[in-house]
Amino acid sequence: MMMLLSRENLEDILRSRFCKQVVEQGINDAVKFLQRWSYLSSQVTRLHGAALARIHIPDIQYLLAEIAYGECGFGNKDKIHSKLLVNLINQSPFSCSITQGLDKIFVQLFEETVMELSHMSQDEAIGFIVGLEAPAYQILQLLQQALLKVGILEKDIIKSEYFVIHNLVEKEHQESGHEAMEMIMNSGFELSQIHKGGDQAINFLIKMIGDA
Ligand SMILES: [Fe+2]
Repeated sequence: MMMLLSRENLEDILRSRFCKQVVEQGINDAVKFLQRWSYLSSQVTRLHGAALARIHIPDIQYLLAEIAYGECGFGNKDKIHSKLLVNLINQSPFSCSITQGLDKIFVQLFEETVMELSHMSQDEAIGFIVGLEAPAYQILQLLQQALLKVGILEKDIIKSEYFVIHNLVEKEHQESGHEAMEMIMNSGFELSQIHKGGDQAINFLIKMIGDA
């Protein structure tokens, strides 16, 4: 089993589990999906921070800080990703029901996940971030479907700052995840631990945005 696992196919395994459990099921309730995703978007840098707290290697600390800094707008508060998403959601006639009324279960799930992550080993924590980034493009596509369903025009979605930035940036985030994993593996850490962390991230994403 372990011999078959390489860096690339670990990410493929994680991504395909996400696809089976979330993408293939599709979105039934676009309002619920957007409620949960915009909440997660507004909190996601806490996951990077919790993972960062576990990392001893300065080069990997750098990569995680870079991802978090990007989420926070790369030095421009107006470009904080969750704010750009809110700007986009506000174009929907359903924006009020999207921006309020998130079930407490998701807040609890998020808080528990931050706690778990802050107790993980370094390898698991890196795996968690790799798992979190692995289905980023698939999530962007789900997001586009959900935004269409709440009445935002395709051209307005595609030209929005949120989408323009994410089409560029998710690739970089995934590459940072790759780099971190490569460094970890070159330092002799265990792929099984990285895989365990990655699985936990996918489980988290499935609970957070699956079944909406
Ligand atoms: Fe983002």
